[in-house]
Amino acid sequence: MTPSSSYFSTEPEPDISRVFLLTRLLCDNDATDDGCVNNKGNETNSEGRTTVTSNMTAGTTYTSSTPSLGWGSELKQSASSSTATTRTPAASSSSLSSITDHTTYPLIRQNDRVYLRDPENPYPLPCDLPEIHRQTLRSLMLLRVFGAPFCNPQFSKAPPKRVLDLGCGSGLWSSMCHEYFAKKGHHDISFTGLDIVSLAPDLRRQGVNWQFKHHDLRKSRLPFPDGYFDFVFMKDLGMCSFGSSNHESPLSEPLRVLKSGGILEVWDSDLVFRTLLPNPAPAPGLSSKDQEVADATATYTFSSATPFATPQNKYLQDYNSWVQKAFDERKLTAMPCATIGLSFTSEMDVFKSVDSRRIAIPLGEVRWERETPTKNTGTSRRALSEDQLALRQTALQTVIQMIESMEPLLMEASGKGRDEWDRWWAAMQGDLLQKGSLASGECLEVSAWWGQKR
Ligand SMILES: C[S@@+](CC[C@H](N)C(=O)[O-])C[C@H]1O[C@@H](n2cnc3c(N)ncnc32)[C@H](O)[C@@H]1O
Repeated sequence: MTPSSSYFSTEPEPDISRVFLLTRLLCDNDATDDGCVNNKGNETNSEGRTTVTSNMTAGTTYTSSTPSLGWGSELKQSASSSTATTRTPAASSSSLSSITDHTTYPLIRQNDRVYLRDPENPYPLPCDLPEIHRQTLRSLMLLRVFGAPFCNPQFSKAPPKRVLDLGCGSGLWSSMCHEYFAKKGHHDISFTGLDIVSLAPDLRRQGVNWQFKHHDLRKSRLPFPDGYFDFVFMKDLGMCSFGSSNHESPLSEPLRVLKSGGILEVWDSDLVFRTLLPNPAPAPGLSSKDQEVADATATYTFSSATPFATPQNKYLQDYNSWVQKAFDERKLTAMPCATIGLSFTSEMDVFKSVDSRRIAIPLGEVRWERETPTKNTGTSRRALSEDQLALRQTALQTVIQMIESMEPLLMEASGKGRDEWDRWWAAMQGDLLQKGSLASGECLEVSAWWGQKR
């Protein structure tokens, strides 16, 4: 059933070409020698590079405001109260209001990348085609390691009718989920994607019953009535802020719009990297089907009791310390996989049942896999198949590209100047792509959490 128009805007939603047009407009308005922004308060350094994190206008004073927080906000509130950087312009004038009109001009070009322009939005990734490609690769890889577009078992018998894809980005997940159900003969499921920017194409052209809702998750309420959806899916939103209050759980609004008996499922990936110690025991209670997927993909299911060590790779150590610092400053967590669990626990009275799956994907061929057979099934993973190796290379590629995507933030946290950063970047890339440099077991950790609402 198509959602009634009272809940959904009838405004024409721009597709990606409009996003780039907006960027172009923004850049043309403020063209400098390098063809991009700059007298609207963003600094251009001697090389013509734009810095968005600085104060937007000389003479504008900033007051601290209540930050809206993402995963693990409860943790971060106490951990980093001294580093709050959220700023709100205190002055107001017509020129200032156009500067702060992030709805009309939501994007900013910085070097060769396009980012969200609102300095109060801590989301650190670009909103451009290279990033969409990276997220697409990550989504396809996750679909392989989780075995389906969702992990909850409830929809195997009765599919959902209305699905909400929060922070939908390119809409790829909705499109894949539509196909998954369509192959099983279920064609009448409606999908609603919500995002702060319209990056998704019109999926209706691909036969998806699709609506896009432009919305900022930092607002206190989602633009849907109580109990409207029977499946709410959130993927890779660990870097987004939710709600307008410090104390609000990122799950409270998604749960409000979910009907009784509906499913909330959250997938995320950690931003820091750890080393998986040899031959981890599989997660307790793993079904034989999930074990089969883990074996087929040469990935490792794990639990909170599974031991990890700090990465041995020097470049991942550098990166870990910078991303941790930068995320602390933005009141974000660099380990959303652990903190999603806390968010589910804090809503325990709303859920009938909660479950999770955590998976470590090694970023390369691991020394101890060749030396000893795995305890998972007793079968050795000594020789990886081409597919298994390709999956690990894909994971590594999405990690390297993510580091590239977060360049402005990491460069600032590292304290490096442009030349020094470029040297580090080239050395890091060369090292990580070299055979054997991640043989200790450095992993990408991903997780899925799901719960059924009472
Ligand atoms: C890492 S992407 C994930 C996209 C998609 N879920 C996927 O997995 O491919 C995060 C998305 O959150 C969106 N986003 C960031 N801040 C937001 C906000 N305050 N409100 C709504 N969406 C936001 C970004 O535009 C981006 O599309």
